[in-house]
Amino acid sequence: MTSVAGVECREQEPWQGETLTVVRIALAGCGSVGSALLREIAARREAIADRHGVEIVLTRLLVRDLERKRDASFDPALLTNDVDDFLATDADVVVEAIGGLDPARRIAETVLGRGQRLVTANKLLLALHGSSLTALARRNATSLRYDAAVGGGVPILRVIDESLGAGGPARVRGILNGTANFVLTRLEGGATFDQALDEARAAGFAEADASRDLDGRDAADKIALVAWAAFGVAPESVAVRRSSLLPEPDRFVRLASRVGARVRHVAECSLVGGEVVAAVEPLFVSPESALARTRDEGNHVDVFAGWRAPLCASGPGAGGLPTATALLSDLVCTGTAPRRSTGARVATSDSREQTWAVEVRAEPAVLHRSVPNCALVHTNDTASESWTIVRGTTPSGIASLLAELDAAGASPIVARFDEALS
Ligand SMILES: NC(=O)c1ccc[n+]([C@@H]2O[C@H](COP(=O)([O-])OP(=O)(O)OC[C@H]3O[C@@H](n4cnc5c(N)ncnc54)[C@H](OP(=O)(O)O)[C@@H]3O)[C@@H](O)[C@H]2O)c1
Repeated sequence: MTSVAGVECREQEPWQGETLTVVRIALAGCGSVGSALLREIAARREAIADRHGVEIVLTRLLVRDLERKRDASFDPALLTNDVDDFLATDADVVVEAIGGLDPARRIAETVLGRGQRLVTANKLLLALHGSSLTALARRNATSLRYDAAVGGGVPILRVIDESLGAGGPARVRGILNGTANFVLTRLEGGATFDQALDEARAAGFAEADASRDLDGRDAADKIALVAWAAFGVAPESVAVRRSSLLPEPDRFVRLASRVGARVRHVAECSLVGGEVVAAVEPLFVSPESALARTRDEGNHVDVFAGWRAPLCASGPGAGGLPTATALLSDLVCTGTAPRRSTGARVATSDSREQTWAVEVRAEPAVLHRSVPNCALVHTNDTASESWTIVRGTTPSGIASLLAELDAAGASPIVARFDEALS
């Protein structure tokens, strides 16, 4: 026995069960996530046997570049860069950690079509083809698991699927992109956009092209998967209203500070009048809120399930190790994948009236002209930027206002106020 901080812990006993179930895996991708998965499997071999009665054996490893040095150890004879060769391998589970649509979609359809289990971290693939892939899995009596696709190490899909009984939430919202959050919080600390992005790349959170992260497309894919879990709507049918942080995320940070708030790029889906609405947009939140306190690559999700307070899940939303841990959890999970109905309706527009902050690169008169009932307009010292608060306006009303200000050459930006602030 050992004692840690006064708590008695048992030394880990080796697996005492009768036999270990050997699970043969073919892994597609050995980048940040794939290599972390191989390291985790090697480092946790005994714990995996002990907890799950499973021994994981790698049978094939698909990469693009056979010569690249890998941050994991494995038998080099298992490497291939030929997708057909990879698919010809005998395996109980195929793990896809390549990303993108091609060849990920072909791999997924082939694997599920012949009744093999598939585990993937690929939110793009699931957001576009999730319901047809799950139908294929069901027809072939196998399972498709993708907990790693949303939240990295934050098991938000699992929370929605398994921790709310048979009831679903009325609303889910949160920070689902670690790169965007990293950039915003570095900008709050005084970094320039270029410095923040370079740091995110050096830390391994941002790819060379981080536009999918910063314009909200990545978070939109994820919130479509959350809406699928929460409300049963097919992910490809969810129209996610999306407002980019680009081209100048620092403008949102400055405007937030001018109105005493913090900005976070927040994804949200909810039931409004029985229909599903979803959005990814800059949200002004209280500096004391859990969203504002989510820094760097952290993710934070609030699940509103009709309780007095939301159920919250937070943690590292990006990075090889947290994502690989989520893949590993799916890998050793032998239960049937949750069923998702596709009965709910997706709303064509969001009718809720909200409060917004609008800023233009123009003098106050431009806002006075375009914003109905515009009372108070603030300007910076040089009167080159003006901003105001617009209340009681729907997202489509705000979109029309932005189009008008844009046409006037006023370079508008807009952020919504969290209801706790408005
Ligand atoms: N990184 C994260 O923090 C994170 C978090 C959540 C989810 N995810 C998801 O996890 C998946 C993998 O992400 P990652 O960050 O590990 O990506 P990555 O570092 O770019 O690695 C991708 C891997 O896939 C291989 N690959 C790419 N295209 C291929 C092709 N056509 N044929 C064969 N192999 C190919 C690459 O081979 P080479 O190495 O030879 O180029 C590389 O080993 C993606 O779906 C991503 O969205 C990542």
